[in-house]
Amino acid sequence: MTTTAAWPTAHMDGAHALLADGTPVRIRSARAADREAVLRMYREMSPEHLRMRFLGAGNRVTERSAERICADDRPGDRALVVLRGEQVLGAAEFHRNEPGGDTADVGIAVAGDWHRRGVGTLLMEHLVPLARRDGVRALTADALAANGPLFRLVADLGLRTTIRCADAEMHCTIELSAVDEPLPRPRSVVVIGTGRRPDSADRAILRRIREHGFTGELYAVGKRDPLPAGADLAVLVIAAHAVPEAAERCGKQGIRALIAVSSRLTDAQGVALQEICRGYGMRLVGPNCLGLSPGTARGTSLLDALPAAYRRLQLCLAGRHLRRQQRQRQ
Ligand SMILES: CC(C)(COP(=O)(O)OP(=O)(O)OC[C@H]1O[C@@H](n2cnc3c(N)ncnc32)[C@H](O)[C@@H]1OP(=O)(O)O)[C@@H](O)C(=O)NCCC(=O)NCCS
Repeated sequence: MTTTAAWPTAHMDGAHALLADGTPVRIRSARAADREAVLRMYREMSPEHLRMRFLGAGNRVTERSAERICADDRPGDRALVVLRGEQVLGAAEFHRNEPGGDTADVGIAVAGDWHRRGVGTLLMEHLVPLARRDGVRALTADALAANGPLFRLVADLGLRTTIRCADAEMHCTIELSAVDEPLPRPRSVVVIGTGRRPDSADRAILRRIREHGFTGELYAVGKRDPLPAGADLAVLVIAAHAVPEAAERCGKQGIRALIAVSSRLTDAQGVALQEICRGYGMRLVGPNCLGLSPGTARGTSLLDALPAAYRRLQLCLAGRHLRRQQRQRQ
């Protein structure tokens, strides 16, 4: 998923994003006028998902949530919605547990037909920096122990999380204060590429990372060269067929996150890549992506790093790949 706007300010006016299946969406702060659309999303959710979201708590729980989400947003009480046109595909909110306190309770829900396409991830990745800016040091959430999708979503954020069990419920605390995020703030980056020419994509990315003032450890290696152990982030700029093997080697070396710029992976290569990342607990952006926007990880945006002509080519390839994926699903 590639967001095209800068990282959100405290109130979020909006950013465009692509879901995992290529659907273009918009993410922004909720407004009073969204109330009906948020309620519609809740009305269309299955009883099971509503139970997961609200733990079966009382009457009018969805109305109260829609009112909170669409109330004025202010420090410590914020909500975001993901929209496709006027339809709300997902909403997430956090509210301080007590006035002036530094923890906030978080709630999130995604519309029934839109699960597992990255809506939840998109919401959390934008909500976390908003909470940080408001001085929130930890997000808390009570959830049913059976809520695997939520626990995976939280684990995939790559933030320090503790989970306490109490009967059928779990209490999660997601730490926001520790700066330990291999994706947006890597301390060491390895660019894995094959380019020999100075204008090759991997060289351009390397140059760009340096020019952006990255002060951590930076390595450039060929696809079969030994990898530095425990690097925070690897950027893969290699042919599609070599990606799964390189990812496996990264996992073995304890590398914590991957940006796979490489495009044209077959479905089998894509699935293998995801499984390897999941197996080693590596965060993954891509494949077939343009990196992160400069606001999130300086210098890893291919869009930023490439000369204009190559940039058009990459965008065109990305578009073609997405259209192919969409055709295959139809
Ligand atoms: C929990 C919940 C919010 C998750 O939302 P979601 O939109 O389905 O989550 P995502 O799509 O972002 O993530 C789901 C999977 O897609 C994957 N994914 C996310 N973005 C992706 C991307 N761009 N490319 C490929 N895969 C991606 C994730 O890795 C994850 O995979 P996994 O489950 O195998 O680990 C949703 O299940 C929900 O609404 N549940 C009901 C309400 C609820 O339980 N709320 C929590 C209590 S407050």
